[in-house]
Amino acid sequence: VIGAAAGVLRAPGTILFGAGVRHDVGRAAASLGGKAIVCTDPRLSSSPELTGMLESLKRAGVEAVVFDQTVAELPSVSLVQAHRRLATVPADLVIGLGGGSCIDMAKVMSLLLAHGGTVDEYYGEFTVPGPILPVIAMPTTAGTGSEATPVAVVADVSSGRKVGISDPHLIPRVAICDPELTVGCPRALTASAGADALTHLVESFTAVRRPHETDIASDRVFVGKGDLTDAVALKGLRHLGRSLLAAYRYPDNLERRADVMLGATYGGIALGTAGTAAAHALQYPLGSLTHTPHGVGVGALLPYVMRFNLRERLPEFGQVAQALGADVNGLTELEAAVQGIEAVEAMLCDLDIPRDLRTLGLDAQHIGMVAEQGLRARRLVGNNPRRLDLAATTAIVTRAYAGERTIETNGEGL
Ligand SMILES: NC(=O)c1ccc[n+]([C@@H]2O[C@H](COP(=O)([O-])OP(=O)(O)OC[C@H]3O[C@@H](n4cnc5c(N)ncnc54)[C@H](O)[C@@H]3O)[C@@H](O)[C@H]2O)c1
Repeated sequence: VIGAAAGVLRAPGTILFGAGVRHDVGRAAASLGGKAIVCTDPRLSSSPELTGMLESLKRAGVEAVVFDQTVAELPSVSLVQAHRRLATVPADLVIGLGGGSCIDMAKVMSLLLAHGGTVDEYYGEFTVPGPILPVIAMPTTAGTGSEATPVAVVADVSSGRKVGISDPHLIPRVAICDPELTVGCPRALTASAGADALTHLVESFTAVRRPHETDIASDRVFVGKGDLTDAVALKGLRHLGRSLLAAYRYPDNLERRADVMLGATYGGIALGTAGTAAAHALQYPLGSLTHTPHGVGVGALLPYVMRFNLRERLPEFGQVAQALGADVNGLTELEAAVQGIEAVEAMLCDLDIPRDLRTLGLDAQHIGMVAEQGLRARRLVGNNPRRLDLAATTAIVTRAYAGERTIETNGEGL
C-alpha cells in the first residue's frame, strides 16, 4: 500500500550555489539593507576572501562593520563579549563568513540584536519571538549545513554542555555557497566536515516517521522523516558518495569540492526540517569529554547507531547503499541494508575517522555517562527510528567503544 505523500520543507529564501557566487554578496546584501555586520574569525580577518566581500559590499553601497573574533564551537562567554561589542552598531543585516561557528555566530548576533536578552534565554525550540535581522550565510567548510538550518549550536560554559537554539526564524535569508571557499580546507577539516554532512543525511533520511498531522510544522521544529526531506537527503548522499573521498584525496579538485558542498547544503536542508537522531544525541556528551571535532564524533558513532536501527530501516539502508554507489542487485532487503551500513563505514574509514570511541579518547569509565547524558537530548532521542532507553544507549556506546562491528543477520540490529 502506498501511503499518501506528506512532508515539510524549510529552507533559505535564496540559495546561490557555484564557483564565484561569493562575488554577488554585495547585491544580495543591498536587497536587505544598507548596513551590515560581518561575523568571521581571526583566520579570515586579513584574507582575500574577506577583502573581496568588503569590496563587493562597498560597490553595492552597503556599509560594513567586521567582527572577526568568532571562537570555534561558540563558547557562550564569547557570545556575551561579541554582543557587548555589537549591541550599539546600527545594522540591517548580519553576514556570517566562515565555518559553522561563524555562521552560527551571525545567527545568534542577529537574534540578540533583534530581540535583546542573553543567549541562554533562547536555548531550546521555538524560543525566538519573531523574525531576526536577515542573515546571509557564506560557508567556507562543507559540512554543518548551517547555511540552511534553523539551528545555532552554543558551547554553554556554565553547564559544560553543547546546547542548541532551534527555531525557523534562524534560517538564513540568503545562503551563498561558493565551493572555491572550501578549496583551502585542510584534509582533517574536509574529513570531519564531510563526516558531519554524511551523518546529517543518513540520520534525517532514517529518522522516525511521524503520522501526518496538519499542524506538525507548528508543533515541532524537527518533524522527522518525510517525502520532501527524503528526496533532498538521497540527492545529498549521491553527491557525497561520488565525491567526498576524492575531495579528501585531491583537495584542489573544484568539481569534487562543489559536489561535496552541494551534498552538505542538502544535508542542512534535510536535517533542518527532519532533524537528526541518536548519533547526534550521544555526540553531545562524547564531544564534551573527548574535545574532538563534532563531525569526527558523530562519524565515529554513526555505524553503531545504524546497526541498532537496522531492523527499523531496512528499505532506507538499502537506498543509502545505492546512493553511495553500492550494487544491491539480486540482494535481499536485509543484505542490501547491511550493504548500506558497510558503505557508510567504508567511507568513514577512508576519511580516517576513528573506528571506535577508545581511539577517540573516551575513557571506559565514562561509557555509562555518555549513555545516560545522551538520553537527555530528548528531541534527538525522540527522533530516532527505534526507541532508545538506557539499555539501548549503553549497548550502542559499549559496542562503539570496543569497535564491536558484528551485524545480526536476522535483521534484529543490536
Ligand atoms: N547550525 C547548525 O545547523 C550546525 C550543524 C552542525 C554543526 N554546527 C556547529 O558548527 C561548528 C563546526 O563548524 P565547522 O565544522 O564548519 O568548523 P568551524 O567553523 O568550527 O571551524 C573550525 C576551524 O576551521 C577553520 N576553517 C574554516 N573554514 C576553513 C577553510 N576554508 N580553510 C581553512 N580553515 C578553515 C576555522 O577558522 C576554524 O579554525 C560547531 O560549533 C558545530 O556544533 C552547527
